Amino acid sequence: MSTFEDLNLSKQLHYAIDDLGFTQPTPIQEQSFPIILSGKDMVGVAQTGTGKTFAYMLPILRDLKFSKQVTPRVLIMVPTRELVLQVVEEIEKLAEYINVRVLGVYGGTNINTQKRAILQGTDIIVATPGRLYDLALSRAIKMKSIQKLVIDEVDVMLDLGFRFQLMNIFEVLPKKRQNIMFSATMTDDVEALINDYFKNPSKVSIAVSGTPLDNISQQCYEVENFYTKVNLLSHLLKDKAAFSKVLVFVSNKKSADRLFLKLDEIYNEELCVIHSNKTQNYRIRSIKQFDEGENRILVATDVMARGLDLDEISHVVNFDTPNFPENYMHRIGRTGRAEHEGKSILFYTDKETAAKEAIEKLMKIEIPKIEFPSEVEISEELTPDERPEEVEINNPHKKGVEDERGAAFHEKSEKNSQVNEGGSYRRLIAKKYKKPRTRGDKNYNKRNKKK
Ligand code: CDP
Ligand code: MG
Repeated sequence: MSTFEDLNLSKQLHYAIDDLGFTQPTPIQEQSFPIILSGKDMVGVAQTGTGKTFAYMLPILRDLKFSKQVTPRVLIMVPTRELVLQVVEEIEKLAEYINVRVLGVYGGTNINTQKRAILQGTDIIVATPGRLYDLALSRAIKMKSIQKLVIDEVDVMLDLGFRFQLMNIFEVLPKKRQNIMFSATMTDDVEALINDYFKNPSKVSIAVSGTPLDNISQQCYEVENFYTKVNLLSHLLKDKAAFSKVLVFVSNKKSADRLFLKLDEIYNEELCVIHSNKTQNYRIRSIKQFDEGENRILVATDVMARGLDLDEISHVVNFDTPNFPENYMHRIGRTGRAEHEGKSILFYTDKETAAKEAIEKLMKIEIPKIEFPSEVEISEELTPDERPEEVEINNPHKKGVEDERGAAFHEKSEKNSQVNEGGSYRRLIAKKYKKPRTRGDKNYNKRNKKK
């Protein structure tokens, strides 16, 4: 095992690491360091919570010379505004003893304030792709001086549909630059992006290991169906002292909303939800309220909660069993962080047994099974997905099924407008000049102002 002494760090970085109380670099940090320092392009793949942020920040800060130049030299792109804030914070900790200017920019906030901040001069920009592109187009950010590009959480970035925005940004960046990419998983999309745009980057891939999670105790319940899971979860959540900060994972937006509606009947005041259909502001608010302890329960989809380093979560509840065992690791890695004890609970139905066994195989453990509590009611109600096919055709609840389709439809269009920030430039311009949409629509401006 190596120590930070083995990395060729500066004194200032050593001081900061001592303050943070870290003793050893993680494997991804250790292996990325010399490659990034050498100036080569690289792709790093390592599971969530293994310290990828510092894996790129250590060599970058080691290398960055003091400068008074106004235009930025390092560009870090992350998929969400939440992550911009988090990465900026992490950099500031690491750069405690270094004279370096860091700025975060993201959509959904006043662009002029950000333009003014950029004019003050900065060394490192942390940005979401949509807002960055807007700033580049309006020439607020000069991209010519960028020497290093980091794309963090590449897999999430592509899952959220940012490929096109990334391509646009590559166009305006100088050809001669170092490209650094980090991802928790090597998906087909990630591989395609790398093959299409980068020439032979060095690859550092840390094998998924089954035991990084020693301080997390794991349990599982076998549960009949979705609504019985709801009953069981409601039952467990009654113990407010033990279940003090609970992150509930579901695999998709539909289930997230369905679960939220049910839990909301009882835990209204204590509950919040995030998924990619929710607006940026809504998501920020939810995460903030949860992180600060104002809300005890957060329901989230996998993609939304990925990458976030939340404080002292008491329980991670896997409301469904992830199909990919790695996702289970990403999920439970949200608790038991930084030496705290964490607890994970998995709900699985008969159908999900195989997925649960795949997880156990990967983790090389058997997740202890807890007896289903007799006081919890077993629900007869089925979700549209759970109903058998034939029944659905003549189903008296057919309306429910149609609602379901409708919801899925909205999901798509909303997702495009809210998460995919591609069209935002035009939207912003339209807003700025407050042009009526049609000549006859005199109330357009008035309506817009109210928002
Ligand atoms: O990006 P990834 O999911 O791999 O992890 P991260 O967001 O960088 O979080 C890693 C956590 O481990 C942070 O809370 C760090 O402060 C901490 N940590 C680290 O990054 N490096 C160490 N050598 C020790 C701890
Ligand atoms: Mg990360």
